[in-house]
Amino acid sequence: MKEERVFNFSAGPAILPIEVLQKAKQEMLSLKRSGMSVMEISHRSKEFKEILEKTKLSIKQLLKIGDDYEILFFSGGASLQFALIPLNFLNKSADFVVTGHWSMKAFQEAKKLGVVNLIYSSEKENFSTTPRKSDLKANPSSDYVHYCSNETIDGVEFKYDLEVGNLPVVCDASSNIMSKPIDIKKYALIYAGAQKNLGPSGITLVIVQKDFLSRAKSNLPTMLSYKSFAEHDSMPNTPNTWGIYLIGLVCDWLREKGGLERIAEINLEKAKLIYKEIDESNGFYRSKVEPSSRSTMNVTFSLPSKELDEKFCAKAEEIGLRNLKGHRSVGGIRASIYNAFPLEGVIRLVEFMRDFRRKYS
Ligand SMILES: Cc1ncc(COP(=O)(O)O)c(C=O)c1O
Repeated sequence: MKEERVFNFSAGPAILPIEVLQKAKQEMLSLKRSGMSVMEISHRSKEFKEILEKTKLSIKQLLKIGDDYEILFFSGGASLQFALIPLNFLNKSADFVVTGHWSMKAFQEAKKLGVVNLIYSSEKENFSTTPRKSDLKANPSSDYVHYCSNETIDGVEFKYDLEVGNLPVVCDASSNIMSKPIDIKKYALIYAGAQKNLGPSGITLVIVQKDFLSRAKSNLPTMLSYKSFAEHDSMPNTPNTWGIYLIGLVCDWLREKGGLERIAEINLEKAKLIYKEIDESNGFYRSKVEPSSRSTMNVTFSLPSKELDEKFCAKAEEIGLRNLKGHRSVGGIRASIYNAFPLEGVIRLVEFMRDFRRKYS
């Protein structure tokens, strides 16, 4: 039986590569002829250890990460990292760059745990931009600087790897991890909830420089401690085995697609098509985001009225363009076009946008 698939623009949990879903389906009842699924084997088993090692290695290869970094997996979502990072690393103070809803959330969570400095905020500009490198001044005695490389709700993305003085850089890359190559050496810690570009929800990838890790506090409860996760190879307790397995399959898929250089080209091509339609719509479609900070992953825009926003989403749903509604806190439209989202779906969306504009402008 052929199953119907739609063009799913969901921001997360989001579309996964069809090849990954098929592989998981094929191995669901018997992983490597074991007669058991990946969810039914011990996390201490040889089979699972192989999966864990393979997944970590794939991540390292794709992002060109050396042995000076640890690859860890946590549960609790990216939101737990908002608290774990200050719990582990905040001694004197931490600097925050706020460019949208998620980095604001991270700032507010850290504030509950220590001294935080807001060194940049685009809140007054309605989170429509990112700072120029020269706008950022660090507090030299801070323990780290935190930012979010892609703001999923606002559709704002940094086009460079952030550097602020000599501070260790901590980055929430939940919605653009593995969408393009990065200069890993610039980061002390990167975290990403998997449910956008990497796999299912309920698992978070953490990439941490060993030198930075050595500064983490040692007297924390096991499940809140990066050191204990590193010492126990991400398994101080039972990890999300299914999540680790799926991330491994997504990495295999990325490699088959030509790696991050190639995926970045495709991602740019997809995003450009939608932004072009926005820019050529004579203001019918409006993007609040400054062109140089526009996200390649989450294209946000609005129509001249809320009623038209709603009609746009309803009509799009009718032709299989699903989940285009903007986040409830900002409204409008959001097309999330992560790695797994096909070019064909973007072309369909742009055709639909053109037709809709002709009819309703
Ligand atoms: C950039 C970013 N950071 C953090 C989060 C929170 O992630 P989680 O729901 O996994 O805690 C999200 C969720 O969408 C996000 O997009």
